[in-house]
Amino acid sequence: MALRKIMLSGVKPTGRPHLGNYFGAMRQFVKLAEEHEAFVMIADLHALTTLHNAAELKQNTLDLALDYLAIGLDPAKVTIFKQSEVPAHAELAWIFNTLVTVPYLQRAHAYKDAEAKGKELDAGTFTYPVLMAADILLYSTDIVPVGRDQKQHVEYARDIAEKFNHTYGETFKLPNPLILSDVETVPGIDGQKMSKSYNNIIPLFASDEEITKAVMAIVTDSSGERPENVYQIHKLFKSAGELASLYEDKKGKYKELKEALIDDIKTFTKPLRERREELAKNPEEIIKILQAGSAKARESATIKLTEVKQKVGLDL
Ligand code: ADP
Ligand code: TRP
Repeated sequence: MALRKIMLSGVKPTGRPHLGNYFGAMRQFVKLAEEHEAFVMIADLHALTTLHNAAELKQNTLDLALDYLAIGLDPAKVTIFKQSEVPAHAELAWIFNTLVTVPYLQRAHAYKDAEAKGKELDAGTFTYPVLMAADILLYSTDIVPVGRDQKQHVEYARDIAEKFNHTYGETFKLPNPLILSDVETVPGIDGQKMSKSYNNIIPLFASDEEITKAVMAIVTDSSGERPENVYQIHKLFKSAGELASLYEDKKGKYKELKEALIDDIKTFTKPLRERREELAKNPEEIIKILQAGSAKARESATIKLTEVKQKVGLDL
C-alpha cells in the first residue's frame, strides 16, 4: 500500500469556534482524515500571543478538544494533540529563527496590520509564522487545510523549508495549503470576516437562543433585494439552487429569511451539539485522548528534529 499523504492543521484555543472556523477549516479536517494520515493540533503556544490567563487557556484547551471530537474527528484515526506537549515545535522554531530575516517577517500581514494600527508587537507575535512553520514541517506535511487568512502562513512555511534545505541540504517537504474557494472567508454578523477577535461570531456550538440572537443581529443593507450578509452565511447550509427559490419567494422579507437561516443552522448543528454534550460528561476521557495524541505526535516530531539537529550540528 502506498504511504498515505499527511495533513496537519490546528486552531488556537482562544475562544469558541464559530461557523467561519468550521466551514473554512475544521470540516475539512474531518474529510481529509479519511484519506490522509492526519494531525490536528490545539495551538496553545500560539494562543499565548493573545491570551494571558491560565484558567481560561486551560478551559479553552479542553473545550477545543471536545469541539474536535464533536465534529467527528476520531482519535483512533487522527492524532489530536496539544502543541505545547511536543517541545520539538519550540525547538525547531528557534532554529528557524536563526535563518529568517527581520525584513522578511516584517512583510507578514499580522505584523503589517499591527504596525498600521500603531500597536506595539510582542516578539511572539512577530515570530508567529516561524513557529507555525515548525508545526507544519516537523511532520513532513503535504497538505494544510485552513481558511484564506492563513494562506500567507503556509507560504512562510514553504519559504522557510526551502531556505533550510538550501542551507543544510534536503530535509523538509514543501507543504501546500488547502483553501476551499467557496468558504475561504465566512463573513460575521457585521459583514467583516467572522473572527473570535471581532465580536461578530455565530458560535458553532451555540444554544437555540444564541443562534436566534446572532442571526437577528446580522447587519442588512436595505439597498439591495437580497440581504447579502444573510445570504453569504445561508449558502453554507443550502445549495445555490435551493436558496435561489427561497430568496425569490421572500424577496425583501428580511425577517423571514433570517428565520429560515436560524432553522437551517439549528438543524445542521443539533447533532453536533448533542454529541458534544455527551462527550462533555467524561472530561477524564478527553484528557487521556490528548495525552495519547501528544505522545504519538512527540514520537513523529522527534524523528524529524533529530535529523535537523544532525544537519545543523547540534548533535554530538
Ligand atoms: P479566528 O480568526 O476566529 O481567531 P483562528 O485564527 O483560530 O480564528 O482560525 C482557525 C481556522 O479557521 C484557520 O484555518 C482560519 O483560517 C479559519 N477561519 C477563521 N475565520 C474564518 C472565516 N471567517 N472564514 C473562513 N475560515 C476562517
Ligand atoms: N495560525 C493558525 C490560526 O490562527 C493556527 C495554527 C497554528 C495552524 N499552527 C498551525 C494552522 C499549523 C495550520 C497549521 O488559525
